[in-house]
Amino acid sequence: MVLCVALDRPSFEDNLALANELKDLDIWIKVGFRSFLQGGIKLIEDLKKNEKHNIFLDLKLYDIPNTMADGAEEIGKMGVDMFNIHASAGETAMKTVMERVSKFESRPLVLAVTALTSFDGDSFNAVYNTDLETKATQFAKDAHSSGLDGVVCSVYESLKIKENTSSDFQTLTPGIRPAGASLDDQKRVATPNVAMDNRVDYIVVGRPIYKADNPVAVTEEILNSIAD
Ligand code: C5P
Repeated sequence: MVLCVALDRPSFEDNLALANELKDLDIWIKVGFRSFLQGGIKLIEDLKKNEKHNIFLDLKLYDIPNTMADGAEEIGKMGVDMFNIHASAGETAMKTVMERVSKFESRPLVLAVTALTSFDGDSFNAVYNTDLETKATQFAKDAHSSGLDGVVCSVYESLKIKENTSSDFQTLTPGIRPAGASLDDQKRVATPNVAMDNRVDYIVVGRPIYKADNPVAVTEEILNSIAD
């Protein structure tokens, strides 16, 4: 299982400093809205200098199919290792994105967001008018049949999604909290060990690391807890 650390600090310098502090650790770096809007392609270029770190660009594309594919093509040019789109944009959008990125010799992995981990059953139902687990599984099946590499989901949907798609269909789960850490605004949370038990491929950890007094120590602790 891979650990992705979210670079969600309030400034470009702070985010580069965090990536630099963690430079010797075997992790992926997750660049989301905040750090990408701060640093843009310059941030990606700076991060790519460290060959130890892979980059997940978490921009969650959601638009009409052609506009999503245009965005995906620009992301492909940046040479990141993984990015994501919303499954709720629909199967045509997902297929159009995959067609467009297939032109890259070495294309990034593409994941689809199913249900955000800040949703619980009630708040999901208020938006989608349906049961979270059923819909997350359906989104995953759509993503799988559209040729994507995996989905973003919570730990609690990972096994069911693999059963309904394929065991090598990747799951990436935010909402990860080491035992005792604050939940913040996340609802469907789990510890790194529970994620392992649910055959999650990538876990994402943000605030418990980037707000810690000693981010290296927290990251090492998580890495040790998930080492084979
Ligand atoms: O600080 P925390 O560990 O909650 O950060 C989780 C990270 O994962 C944030 O950057 C958030 O945008 C992202 N994320 C999420 N839920 C998703 C997809 C991404 O929390 N479904």
